[in-house]
Amino acid sequence: MNRRRFLQVSAAAAACSLQGFAEKKHKAAAPSLTDVTGERSLRAHAEARGLLVGCAVVPEHLDGETDYAATVAAQSNILVPENAMKWQALRPAADRFDFRAADEILMFAEGHGQKLRGHNLCWHEALPSWFESTVNADNARRFLTEHIQTVAGRYAGKLHSWDVVNEAIDIHSGRADGLRKSPWLEFLGPGYLEIAFQAAKQADPNALLTYNDYGIETDAPDQTEKRAQVLMLVRRLVARRVPIDAVGVQSHLAAGDKPGAGLRDFVRELGRMGLQVFVTEMDVNEQKLEGSVAERDAGVAELYKDYLTMMLAEPNVTAVLTWGITDRYTWLNSDQKHLRPDGKPQRPLPFDSDYQPAPAYFAMRDALDSRAGKEGAPVKSSPDADPYAPFTPKGAAPKLMRQ
Ligand code: XIL
Repeated sequence: MNRRRFLQVSAAAAACSLQGFAEKKHKAAAPSLTDVTGERSLRAHAEARGLLVGCAVVPEHLDGETDYAATVAAQSNILVPENAMKWQALRPAADRFDFRAADEILMFAEGHGQKLRGHNLCWHEALPSWFESTVNADNARRFLTEHIQTVAGRYAGKLHSWDVVNEAIDIHSGRADGLRKSPWLEFLGPGYLEIAFQAAKQADPNALLTYNDYGIETDAPDQTEKRAQVLMLVRRLVARRVPIDAVGVQSHLAAGDKPGAGLRDFVRELGRMGLQVFVTEMDVNEQKLEGSVAERDAGVAELYKDYLTMMLAEPNVTAVLTWGITDRYTWLNSDQKHLRPDGKPQRPLPFDSDYQPAPAYFAMRDALDSRAGKEGAPVKSSPDADPYAPFTPKGAAPKLMRQ
């Protein structure tokens, strides 16, 4: 593989000296011939096309590892906390919040001119241990709205968007509306989504309010069915004038997946409804790929290229985030069910575990470059392209469906 590069750690690290982020332990990246910082970065390529690009981050690494901080700073104009804004992280006790880790990420993002997404306000997972014995049908509404007032309120005006509700659809729930059997559904009924979105709107009127889900990317029958359920859910919300601005397609893909017309049509339909689409958590699980590292990397890169090229051809797709930036810390190597059978670590992200850009990096950059209307445009920071401008749907007014 010859597309390796020397990460200009010193320059980027100097830029991230904010509040001691660059201080601690550090092993220098191995020198290589390919520089992917500055104008060659994902960030510059995205900004030249008015796009947001970034990754999920972990505060301990931002604070503790210069290569990590430098890579995140150089490559991203938007971040999302991988775990630090989940209930479990924010609420050590029912009556106590701990915002330190979340604040640290916000400070890093602000220090590097990066947007920040909030993830997430309402989910059936990552609930604190006290939740089960404390929250019930009588107090769930108060807990949910107070949580959203407190958390979204704290960061009001500072976030690009919030994943207000995460993963509410489960096609195996046996319900006609496809809603997942979660504590929120059990305690509050299907109205819990509306409660959450309204509370988020009240707490932070400027953030783009997002519904986020997974398993809706391919044309496999179960994914097609789930995607249809998500679309119906979004239509119901829009019809009820629930303040929703965007849908997050998580995009935890597996090597061999094929981007298909189903997702493209879904994105277009959301566009006609006036909604943006974000690729919120992309990675490529290569658990089933055999062969050399180079062959595995090629399989991963191919899917990055095909998937993102398809998505970015749609004008309402405005942000692409990967779930982590380096293979060193991918969740796919910590969760038992994602481990490779041969015990080798997975390589699902744009940078390998030594912070060298993988073929997936270049595939991602090529896909950013393919953004319609700007093909062949020189990569430069363009003052006229405002990646943060609100999306204006072309033509059609939002279509409201009756319930
Ligand atoms: C994952 C994190 O990456 C892990 O570190 C954590 O242990 C579990 O959650 N969909 C989501 C994310 O919306 O919040 C999940 O993140 C991955 C799947």
